[in-house]
Amino acid sequence: MSAEAIEECYAEAPALYAAVARDRDFARQIAALENLVAVPPGGRRLLELFAGPGYHAIEALRRGWRAHAIDVSPGMRRTALEAGFSDPDHYVAGHLPEALDLVRDAAPFDCVLAARYSLGYLDRPAADRLLAGLMPVLRRGGFAVLELHDLRLVTGGLGELGIRERASRLPDGSEVRCRWPDGEVEWSDPDDYVAVMGVRIDITATDGTSRRLRYRSREHIYSATEITCLAARYGLSRVTPEQLPQPVRAAFPDAVPLVLVKDDHTPPSRQ
Ligand SMILES: C[S@@+](CC[C@H](N)C(=O)[O-])C[C@H]1O[C@@H](n2cnc3c(N)ncnc32)[C@H](O)[C@@H]1O
Repeated sequence: MSAEAIEECYAEAPALYAAVARDRDFARQIAALENLVAVPPGGRRLLELFAGPGYHAIEALRRGWRAHAIDVSPGMRRTALEAGFSDPDHYVAGHLPEALDLVRDAAPFDCVLAARYSLGYLDRPAADRLLAGLMPVLRRGGFAVLELHDLRLVTGGLGELGIRERASRLPDGSEVRCRWPDGEVEWSDPDDYVAVMGVRIDITATDGTSRRLRYRSREHIYSATEITCLAARYGLSRVTPEQLPQPVRAAFPDAVPLVLVKDDHTPPSRQ
């Protein structure tokens, strides 16, 4: 695939991603998280990882949470500030997992969220470091919610993924249509589940002129079971699907919302 990496879009055209990412009910998703997090004195505190336009953090702020966000793209940070993320000092442009260190002073958080399969932008060693890095930023009894792929959809080629076709508008009225994955998903690594998929974005301006952008997205596919095993080494336990409040399951369609809780007891040392 000769198209540019999707990171180019995140860096250079964040408004395009911001337009197509508005396809969810953020109020419903944050309300669902409120089922997990009792209101502590001073209010609930969210840390949104891979935040992009920060829609979840913005919705949390609207509902009275305090919120921090991290994303590697300064353009995404600007987009989030324009969209309503009200405190520039609380949105850190930094590379995960290392950038977790940059919000240590603001810890502890009640909830850390990585939405929309974003953990897949980290390879396994980096995902493992991210899980370890959650411990110092989460309060005891706090939650990490990682939205992972539903493996049944992955093995079906992701063709049934509800978000495959999305349409939205830019502020200037242009129509944006996104197809992701576009075409066949390629498996690029004989040793690991690494999917490379095309992303096609068509933009039609109000005068009828159009242009097409193509990207490729390289994503590590993680199972909830695998992340649960890694996380357990640091003292993070899974809230099983049976224990999970129904609104949480329902708020993340076509996905597995993996919910990890920081154990109240001293975490086991790493094997
Ligand atoms: C698929 S978007 C998800 C955005 C948002 N969470 C959502 O739900 O729409 C992935 C985001 O992760 C960011 N990202 C990718 N790799 C990253 C890394 N190593 N550290 C921090 N951010 C990263 C990208 O810049 C992009 O904004």
